[in-house]
Amino acid sequence: MVDTSDEWIVSRTGIKERRVCENGMVGSDMAVIACQKALDNAGVSVDDVDILITATVTPDYRLPSQACIVQNKLGANNAAALDVVAACAGYINGLSIARSFIESGMYKNILVVGVEYLTSITDYTDRGTCILFGDGAGATLITAETDGNGVVSTYLKSDGRLWSWLTVEAGACAKPSEYGVKGDGSDKIYMNGSDIFKVAVREMTKASIKVLEDAGITADDVSLVVPHQANIRIIDAIVKRLKIDKKKVFLNIEKYGNTSAASVPLALDEANHEGLLHKGDYVLMVAFGGGLTTGAALLRW
Ligand code: UT7
Repeated sequence: MVDTSDEWIVSRTGIKERRVCENGMVGSDMAVIACQKALDNAGVSVDDVDILITATVTPDYRLPSQACIVQNKLGANNAAALDVVAACAGYINGLSIARSFIESGMYKNILVVGVEYLTSITDYTDRGTCILFGDGAGATLITAETDGNGVVSTYLKSDGRLWSWLTVEAGACAKPSEYGVKGDGSDKIYMNGSDIFKVAVREMTKASIKVLEDAGITADDVSLVVPHQANIRIIDAIVKRLKIDKKKVFLNIEKYGNTSAASVPLALDEANHEGLLHKGDYVLMVAFGGGLTTGAALLRW
């Protein structure tokens, strides 16, 4: 479709494969599967979910929220439901909101799901972006039942001055969809990748240091880093600055590419199923995306 090569993609991004949502499925279908698996793993009934937080920039509809669609398909009928729109940092924003709800005593069981159907908004004529994005969903149940471990610290930051660096401009109210389908590509993802790269390295490093400092620990204490999987070179640059051993970094970018809000929970789940998380471990999660948004969270597993 575009002038590129496997060699360029793998060496510049670390991506070897990506997943595409099955024909006929949409984001909410992937989210429901992930949420049900999270509930099964936790042994919690869907009836006991107090609130469902869905992080996505690729909802099924503009109205209602993706969370309400997922709630209906999942049957979480006793829950509240809301969306978080913070692109690749969406899951960590959702987790941070969940943490506050738990700590305030307002809710006990919170589903946080990151889900994206990015291939539906990918511009397959743009070689700078069409080689990056994939579809997926990852869900976590955040509960007030605790053995003293959990979300230790979180950090969120945005820089709206740089919003135009990563956009899908058409399809909402400022530029309705008729504008985009005229073929100017504005109903698809636009990204100023090389500028974002530099800010991503700087801001993700800063965010990581902040959550470690808030927890009173150092990078040496971290057992596993679960970063947003956008580009292997971004991840390498961050861990080098943090002086964290590369062996402590969980990677699955080669299989999924960039799945935006789904990226961190997908990676966390795979790390868990691979037996890489042990009770008491410090797990550092960090993400960066459109907005521009940054999020980091430190877990004590
Ligand atoms: O997920 C949240 C936010 N997003 C990110 O964190 C993404 C951050 N950015 C990136 O990951 C990288 O900037 C990209 C992977 C998007 C691009 O890699 P890069 O090393 O920054 O390349 P570049 O944009 O500086 O382009 C270098 C060259 C250009 O050619 P010239 O002008 O030097 O002749 C591009 O046209 O590479 C060219 N190029 C390609 N060549 C072959 C760009 N895309 C491709 C491609 N195949 N797919």
